[in-house]
Amino acid sequence: MDTQNFFTSHICILFIIFTNLANHALSVNQKFQDCAPHACGKGPNISYPFWIRNEQESICGYPSFDITCNEQNPVLKISNDEYIIKDIFYSNHSLLVANAAAYRDACPTPLHNVSLDRTLFSLGMYLSNFFIVYNCTSLPQYPTYELDCASSDTLHSFAFSHEEASSETCQSLVDVPVDMRFGVNSTSLSQMNYTEILKTGFLLDWTAPNCSNCEQSGGRCGFDNSEFVCFCQDRAHHKTCDDGNSVGKFLIII
Ligand SMILES: *[C@@H]1O[C@H](CO)[C@@H](O)[C@H](O)[C@H]1NC(C)=O
Ligand SMILES: *[C@@H]1O[C@H](CO)[C@@H](O)[C@H](O)[C@H]1NC(C)=O
Ligand SMILES: *[C@@H]1O[C@H](CO)[C@@H](O)[C@H](O)[C@H]1NC(C)=O
Ligand SMILES: *[C@@H]1O[C@H](CO)[C@@H](O)[C@H](O)[C@H]1NC(C)=O
Ligand SMILES: *[C@@H]1O[C@H](CO)[C@@H](O)[C@H](O)[C@H]1NC(C)=O
Ligand SMILES: *[C@@H]1O[C@H](CO)[C@@H](O)[C@H](O)[C@H]1NC(C)=O
Ligand SMILES: *[C@@H]1O[C@H](CO)[C@@H](O)[C@H](O)[C@H]1NC(C)=O
Repeated sequence: MDTQNFFTSHICILFIIFTNLANHALSVNQKFQDCAPHACGKGPNISYPFWIRNEQESICGYPSFDITCNEQNPVLKISNDEYIIKDIFYSNHSLLVANAAAYRDACPTPLHNVSLDRTLFSLGMYLSNFFIVYNCTSLPQYPTYELDCASSDTLHSFAFSHEEASSETCQSLVDVPVDMRFGVNSTSLSQMNYTEILKTGFLLDWTAPNCSNCEQSGGRCGFDNSEFVCFCQDRAHHKTCDDGNSVGKFLIII
């Protein structure tokens, strides 16, 4: 092989490798860019484990943590009920949500209990219960919030916050959690109207691999091919941007 040919072929190989590297860096960098925190307009910044459907790739979050932006509000769907996300506390894996009906309907009538079975969410502590009863044949003596929109001459629907209240004469009872720490106490609760109480919301805790190590190293977490990944400026890593392991392609050294 003469020098000229040797040289050309090496330039060629170098060029191919360089192009591959550049493409690779570009595509991974793209995922890092794509997974930047986004907000829906109103509400908190949304990042891993949450991801915004139709605006971000599903790899930016954990599979069942998809959020939809609805009229600038971040909406989380759990067991077919929609909740507005009021705040997200990434540092302790919890979020403050309220039933979306409270924002949408003039007279919200939640018909289901909060159902978290088979989800990665659980109810936070410090809850106070607020009850809504539908189609009762009698009205109680204690103060209640009447739901005129769901009542008739003979059947009454109302809400109350008494623990020991009886709902024997009612067709259905729905339990609405209210978190007493977010600007609400039993005195102020009695002065709020029904919609305001529903909007107070409650905390949910979540379970998903935490992102603190990846984030501290400058990365953004994601979930690709059923595996946790840390997207960094250079490429995807397994855990943090400082570990030596890249996910995917290996380099060929000449
Ligand atoms: C969202 O993130 C941006 C950029 O990191 C920051 O400037 C802004 O204050 C954040 N907003 C909220 C509500 O945390
Ligand atoms: C994240 O997980 C690590 C261990 O894997 C733990 O030390 C750390 O406290 C966790 N961070 C949060 C915010 O839960
Ligand atoms: C998480 O942090 C927020 C803000 O500091 C706090 O209000 C909330 O109670 C905490 N959640 C849990 C589950 O401790
Ligand atoms: C209340 O009664 C009305 C009329 O019978 C019915 O249409 C409605 O579904 C009932 N609501 C509940 C929550 O049971
Ligand atoms: C909600 O839960 C309460 C018990 O906490 C139960 O009595 C009630 O029937 C449930 N309501 C519905 C609609 O499932
Ligand atoms: C309840 O909250 C209101 C306003 O949020 C406050 O003015 C009042 O002092 C609180 N009462 C108690 C008993 O904490
Ligand atoms: C509840 O209170 C809020 C704020 O005080 C008010 O805007 C709203 O109209 C009230 N809703 C009802 C049903 O009275």
